[in-house]
Parts: sequence; structure tokens; C-alpha cells
Amino acid sequence: MEDLMKNNTYTLSNQLQIPAIGLGTNLLDGNQAYVLVKEAIQNGCPLVDTASFYENEEEIGKALQETDRTKCFLVSKLWKDQMGYSKARKAFDESLSRLHTDYIDLYLIHWPSDDESLNKETWQALIDLYKEGKVRAIGVSNFNVEQLLQLMDMEIVPMVNEIEYHPQNKQNNIVSFCKAHNIQVIASSPLGRGKILDNFLVKRLAKKYQKTPAQIVLRCIFQNKIIPIPKSSNSLRIKENLNIFDFELEDKDLENLNSLPPLASGE
Ligand code: A2P
Repeated sequence: MEDLMKNNTYTLSNQLQIPAIGLGTNLLDGNQAYVLVKEAIQNGCPLVDTASFYENEEEIGKALQETDRTKCFLVSKLWKDQMGYSKARKAFDESLSRLHTDYIDLYLIHWPSDDESLNKETWQALIDLYKEGKVRAIGVSNFNVEQLLQLMDMEIVPMVNEIEYHPQNKQNNIVSFCKAHNIQVIASSPLGRGKILDNFLVKRLAKKYQKTPAQIVLRCIFQNKIIPIPKSSNSLRIKENLNIFDFELEDKDLENLNSLPPLASGE
């Protein structure tokens, strides 16, 4: 599987290579995070996404210490109560120490504030961390177009925006803006928290390509040039979710998946 994963990267606006798939960890706590992340990295999972809010950085740090740190592209985020220049810098140092590492590959603002100046001040802290070489790339999460625009005249603009995204939650405005400005989109909840897996078309394509429904959805997201970070609390499903590079959806099938109607609210 590691071989299949090798060339599947995108290039961020600062020329850093980022893996095209990863593992979301906000379902994982305590020992579960340690065991599953360690196993995932050993199985070739190229990217692990955490956040101070997930309260699993210690366990992920332990997993990193016991595997090969250089093989894992590590993403973390500062939380809402860590906004502001000095709080953001402190948040970063605390995450670094919990993660038992001396660098984070990609550091994100987890949620925008309603206060534009607070967003800018926090972003300036991330710019400085980047310029000091403590983090290899910087970005935001859950920012809409208006909030992204607040940062577009700063010295460095976000390299990534991590948002909820899947074929039935396409967030067209944000994705188009990001593509136009060379901001890589990362898709959190790429399986619609499991809800999209029962879709008739997804199930039909799973049969056609001899893949699982999850692999069909994740492959669709990959072919849309967006990075899916599916979550799972099961090691076999984590393995399954990373295995999307040995087949290709035909154009028509991709088009049909991309034309699925949004999930009804409450679905
Ligand atoms: P589980 O933890 O039991 O594997 P999302 O990443 O969109 O938030 O989706 C996460 C949900 O999807 C979880 O409930 C997870 O359940 C489920 N899930 C993840 N991978 C798979 C898979 N390959 N097949 C079925 N369900 C999956």
C-alpha cells in the first residue's frame, strides 16, 4: 500500500508536498487514538489530522515517537479560546510539546472568529511561526469566503482550508474560491459521517468497481483534487479507506457522483 501512496501528493502554494489522503482523528480518544494512529502510520497512512480540541495529541505524540515521524504529515489546529497573537503562539508550543515533536507539518486556525481583527492577529502568529521554521505550512479551517477574504492581503495567505465536504455537501462557493486562489481544500467528514454510504448510486458504483462504498466516495473526492481525511474507530476500515489509488472512476461516474443532491437536513 505504501507504494501506491508514494506519488499521490499535491503541491501547496509554498511548494510543499502534501499527501492526497489522511486519517481524521476527532472520534479517537485515549488509548484508542494511540493504538489506531500507531497502526495506521505503520500501515503507510501518510497524514494524520488532529487538533488541540480533540484532546488526543498526547496519544498521537506517543504513536509518533514509536513510529517514523518523518513518514507522517502531521496536522494540528488551535481552538477558539486560543485566538489572538500571544495565545496562538502559546497554543502552538503546547501542541508541540503534547505531540512530542519539534515541528508540525501544517498548523491551522480551527474556527474563524466573528471579529476580523482577531482572525488577522491570530493569522499573523501563524505567519511568524511559519517564517521561524516551526511549521512547514499554515492554513485555516471552517473559513467561508468572506472570512478568507479578510486574510488575502496579509503577507502570506492560507495554504489550506479544511472544511466539511463530500459529494452531497459540496460547498461550491468556498471550494471555487479556494481553487481560484491556490488554497488546497482538505475534506473533513468526507463520508458525511457515514450517511452517504447508503446512497443508491454509491452502492451501485461499489459493485461496478469491486470497491466498498467508502472507497468510491473517497476516490471521487480525490479525483476532485481535494484531500479526504475520513475518520474511523476501526483499524480494518482505516486501512480500507486509504486504499483508493488502484482504480479510477470514469468521467461519467464522477459526474454523476458530483451531481448527487445535498443530503436533506436531519438525514
Ligand atoms: P466507524 O468508526 O465505526 O468506522 P466521516 O469521516 O465522514 O466523519 O465519517 C465517519 C463515520 O463513518 C464513522 O461513523 C465511521 O464509523 C464511519 N466509517 C468510516 N469508514 C468507514 C467505512 N470504510 N465503512 C463504513 N463506515 C465507515
